[in-house]
Amino acid sequence: MTDAPAKEVDLASEAFEREFERFARFIRNDSSAVPLELSDAEAELRALNELRTRHLGKKSAIAGAKKLIGRVAAEDRAAFGQLVQKTEAAIAQSIESAEASLNEIIKSARTAREAIDVTIPGRRPRPGHLHPITLMRQRIEDIFVSLGYAVEDDREIETDFYNFDALNIPEGHPARDPQDTFYTTQGFALRSQTSTVQIHAMQRRGAPVRMIAPGRVFRRDTPDPTHNPMFYQVEGLCVDRGITMAHLKGTLAEFVHRLFGPETKTRFRPSYFPFTEPSAEVDYSCFNCSGGGCRICKSSGWIELGGSGMVHPNVLRKVNVDPEEFTGFAFGLGIDRTCARIYQLDDIRLLFENDVRFLSQFR
Ligand code: FA5
Repeated sequence: MTDAPAKEVDLASEAFEREFERFARFIRNDSSAVPLELSDAEAELRALNELRTRHLGKKSAIAGAKKLIGRVAAEDRAAFGQLVQKTEAAIAQSIESAEASLNEIIKSARTAREAIDVTIPGRRPRPGHLHPITLMRQRIEDIFVSLGYAVEDDREIETDFYNFDALNIPEGHPARDPQDTFYTTQGFALRSQTSTVQIHAMQRRGAPVRMIAPGRVFRRDTPDPTHNPMFYQVEGLCVDRGITMAHLKGTLAEFVHRLFGPETKTRFRPSYFPFTEPSAEVDYSCFNCSGGGCRICKSSGWIELGGSGMVHPNVLRKVNVDPEEFTGFAFGLGIDRTCARIYQLDDIRLLFENDVRFLSQFR
């Protein structure tokens, strides 16, 4: 036998040993003594499998040597065959041992990753809380519910009928100006006041009716410390037989007593709203200085609550309520500004900046 084929096998064995050197530590050591991250151990296992393909696969030097067995001289065949077999077995043995160790390392790393340390302090979930506008709305609702009012909720996008016609705002009235109100592309108006709910409520319930309607409204107002293009109002409506302006004054006086304290006074100033006649702006004496004048009431002693008045007979007629039989009062107040006053905020825009550090002060 020439030495050439045997030499090939020795070279294959040496080439394997050189490449296998980096994996030898997994055989020598106790697997737990080899410090490896899970991802590194997985990468090593992949590299080991590639090594197996290179040195034992179909295109490996050992596979080539096996094909030579039949071709070497008959007297050398047995010895050569044994050499090939022994070398192949040794390579396979080394790879299997390293593989077993790596699998062991991977298994313990996975177990460690999934282990739960029950002694680690838990992460405390941050509890949410209500927005100051919601808190304010709930306080207002509680007062009116205890006075026998129902709470109505209604749509924010309105047809001309509910937004204008039914509220005694005919075609050509300045309140219909696109400069005042937002319109959708289909020509619907985003309601600019919650007074629209008066109409829905009377259509649904007829008369007598006593309800409040808190909700969002929209106006083309430039944002400043007291204006936002989106803000909240509460509408109030009371229609029954024999309702007079005295009931309106008594109701709003009771409301401010409950909200700001029994010493709070009210003041009615003549005003104009198309859907009430007579109409009045309502002010209340400043809860901070009791009318003496301070920073909160801008030294006037009074703070504006909203608009009010006796429901216009035209409005009652539009919803088929007989103005000869029924009369009523209505009012509308701004929740945002009332909220800002109570919490002594200089700027209502703070309420919508969504800064949790600011909002979490009000609970
Ligand atoms: C009205 O909107 C009437 N609908 C009120 C009413 C109801 C009168 C029923 C008669 C009968 P006014 O435009 O004044 O009225 O608005 C009422 C309140 O909304 C104001 O007092 C104010 O607190 C608030 N407000 C008005 N515009 C803004 C704005 N841009 N940003 C924040 N609050 C506003």
